Amino acid sequence: MSRTFSLEAILAIGLNNAMGMNGTLPWHLPSELHLFKQITEGHALIMGRRTFESLPHLLPNRHHIIISKTLSFKDGTTIVPTLDEALHIAHTLDVEKVFLIGGVNIFEEAIHTCSVIHLSRIMLSPNADIYFQFVPIYHRIAASLCFQDPSTKTDIIYQCYEKII
Ligand SMILES: NC(=O)c1ccc[n+]([C@@H]2O[C@H](COP(=O)([O-])OP(=O)(O)OC[C@H]3O[C@@H](n4cnc5c(N)ncnc54)[C@H](OP(=O)(O)O)[C@@H]3O)[C@@H](O)[C@H]2O)c1
Repeated sequence: MSRTFSLEAILAIGLNNAMGMNGTLPWHLPSELHLFKQITEGHALIMGRRTFESLPHLLPNRHHIIISKTLSFKDGTTIVPTLDEALHIAHTLDVEKVFLIGGVNIFEEAIHTCSVIHLSRIMLSPNADIYFQFVPIYHRIAASLCFQDPSTKTDIIYQCYEKII
């Protein structure tokens, strides 16, 4: 049975478009991780193999669909070779939302097709080896929120984009 869901993306990028460094995030911002949890909990996540490897453990209460041609079985996850197959699997799940959570290839391939994009703009320009520039063409900002990560005093602007066409 094919089920419907809202396809969404969630990402955090620095002022210099930094997104990753040495297989992890280029910052440690607990309040941003908390926001990620709040937004994605109870839903499904589609991710590249390196993004999966960057997680400390399986994220509770979320389906993990990993795109990889090299990974073999990982308990508690579904591994598929392409984004199309990941979306096919997502259609079999009983979830309201499916989130693309990175990395770069997946965002480049499909971010413009997402109905909602949750973007945290991190007010830092850290050293990075993974960059992604989000240029909205088919989306406009529907809501935004400025907050500060209390432990690091880093300013963050959360922007929620909705698809317009
Ligand atoms: N700031 C953020 O919001 C954010 C979000 C996500 C990740 N990150 C960071 O970014 C880095 C990881 O991202 P990344 O871009 O380097 O790697 P990635 O996309 O997570 O993983 C790359 C691997 O995933 C598979 N893959 C990805 N897209 C594919 C596609 N369209 N078709 C087929 N296979 C595909 C391939 O796996 P195989 O080689 O196994 O075939 C590829 O080698 C880490 O540093 C992570 O912490 C940051």
